[in-house]
Amino acid sequence: MSEGLKVTVLGAAGGIGQPLSLLLTLSKLPIRHLSLYDIRLAPGVATDLSHITNVPKITGHVNPAEALEGTDVVVIVAGVPRKPGMTRDDLFSINAKIMQGLIKNVAIYAKPTCCVCVVSNPVNSLVAVAVETLKQYTSSTDNSGWVENRVFGVTTLDNVRAETFSNNKDVIVIGGHAGKTIIPLLPNGTEVPNYEEFVHRVQFGGDEVVKAKDGKGSATLSMSWAGFRFVSSVIKAKAGLLNGSTVSENELVPAFVNLKYNRGGKQLQNKLRSPKIEYFACPIKLQNHTGFVDYIDSSCLRGIPAREEKLIVQALPQLKREIQKGKDFVAKTDNSKL
Ligand code: NAD
Ligand code: LMR
Repeated sequence: MSEGLKVTVLGAAGGIGQPLSLLLTLSKLPIRHLSLYDIRLAPGVATDLSHITNVPKITGHVNPAEALEGTDVVVIVAGVPRKPGMTRDDLFSINAKIMQGLIKNVAIYAKPTCCVCVVSNPVNSLVAVAVETLKQYTSSTDNSGWVENRVFGVTTLDNVRAETFSNNKDVIVIGGHAGKTIIPLLPNGTEVPNYEEFVHRVQFGGDEVVKAKDGKGSATLSMSWAGFRFVSSVIKAKAGLLNGSTVSENELVPAFVNLKYNRGGKQLQNKLRSPKIEYFACPIKLQNHTGFVDYIDSSCLRGIPAREEKLIVQALPQLKREIQKGKDFVAKTDNSKL
């Protein structure tokens, strides 16, 4: 058993950040130190959590550098949520700036092997913002994939919704994390009572919550549960527990990852008949001890029915546009102003 990891939550005082931090506190995962940062209230949230019996070291910070020092895993839930009538893309200009500033600190203060879990929206664009910004600040200049292997867009909530709405725990969601880019794949030979309704509800489940919360935010509790599910897998992998008694060696988890620099990415691009698409959500295998992407498993795309092929074709243009938007944003930023 390792000594445990330092896990940092950025945006820890928010609607997702607080319950996610509670779940991490209670988890009994190999966390040595839970570090919380927000532009407001992080020390208060940390003090509150630290009164729970038998928990890891918990600290709250008003300074991101201090929060991130020596971090093994970072979860980014900082940013603005949607209000009714908005798309996730409408959050881009505010949240991309927040992401860039935070990632600069991750690059400088976290461990160079730190796994970065991006929850903030729009995920389809902000993962590229995170990767490109990390690349600007890390010493690796050889494009070896050092950065692309360890940045994950967290799309687990789409999978949680699809499992719930289909009542089938083997359903897989691929693509991206916005409307039509979200593509549920039912296991071969299974059906749901109304396929079109099911697909629409998975694709627009986020809007359902935004509408129900009536201007007071988007999914927070289901997201903190989904985020916890994903981050737990990364923590277990990084702590070297994948081949142990708790996790199956072959366990796959969904995430939105880079295809160019990750094993299995090329095969996925070929299956999508889109050789240039740079990011896609798909089941991935995490590497034991590093928590990085080991490989992308695109076997879920084998022999899919025409109705699912059609969803992929519909998703690709929007997905490509949103990925490019993130890359362009970083390319035209003056680093010295971050
Ligand atoms: P929230 O407003 O409740 O919390 C966000 C927190 O971020 C706030 O506490 C705020 O103070 C903090 N923050 C803002 N700027 C910051 C900065 N520069 N540094 C550190 N902290 C900062 O919002 P929420 O409901 O927790 O949602 C957070 C983000 O997660 C939103 O962008 C939302 O769209 C996204 N989200 C993603 C998914 C997903 O499936 N990936 C699901 C739900 C929500
Ligand atoms: C979700 O899917 O619930 C999140 O991406 C939040 C949102 O804006 O819908």
